[in-house]
Amino acid sequence: MQEVLTLIEQKKQEYAQLPLFNFMRDKTINHRQRLAWAPCAAHFIMNFAELNKYFLRVEPTNDPIQRLINKHTYEDDHHWLWFVEDMKNLELDKSLKFSDALKFLWGEETKNARWLNYQLYRYTCQATPIQKIIVIEVTEATGNIMFSATAEICKEAKAITEKPCRYFTDFHLDFETGHMTGESGIEEILQHIQLSEVNRQEALELVENLFTVFTQFTSDLLVYAENHKIEQELKAA
Ligand SMILES: [Fe+2]
Repeated sequence: MQEVLTLIEQKKQEYAQLPLFNFMRDKTINHRQRLAWAPCAAHFIMNFAELNKYFLRVEPTNDPIQRLINKHTYEDDHHWLWFVEDMKNLELDKSLKFSDALKFLWGEETKNARWLNYQLYRYTCQATPIQKIIVIEVTEATGNIMFSATAEICKEAKAITEKPCRYFTDFHLDFETGHMTGESGIEEILQHIQLSEVNRQEALELVENLFTVFTQFTSDLLVYAENHKIEQELKAA
């Protein structure tokens, strides 16, 4: 398993180099514009709770690894509430007709957010606890990069608006440690798991596939942010 964790770490560093994160660090761009991709991520963020509840969690269980996973899911299944709150506080809470909201959430611009969900469901549905841990570790790794970037923007936003945010800030980052949470010494436990050759190959492939879908999703967020000018939308509203 150590080799799998090392690959996740390596892919995490590559993920951190995606252009979206340069865009988010660019202080010449308005701070709200640098978070303008948030609506595009809604489908993924809102479904993440259900990934935890209905796919990652299995109760009751006698499997010690599944027990750790269950514990983790109780932490991670309600963060969408903070996202909804932040959308209001960052004034990204645009009004839409219900039919337009549906077309947006299932539209072309947001297809990679949905595709990411479907792939996460695919890889966790009837999966082994080890496969689920890999999914959790990859989502934690990407989340850690993403929330490190958003937290910096929110520090600027707070200085300007004074409105408190939770999803995009250090508050959330404290829960997204970059690794599975809920138990101390979990990394030790994971490192010592022995995989058969077949499972090792499958695990490495799973890591590659997951980072591919996270990369597609993240690249689309940048396209969305670049194509949706916040100030123009506010004026048009
Ligand atoms: Fe979270």
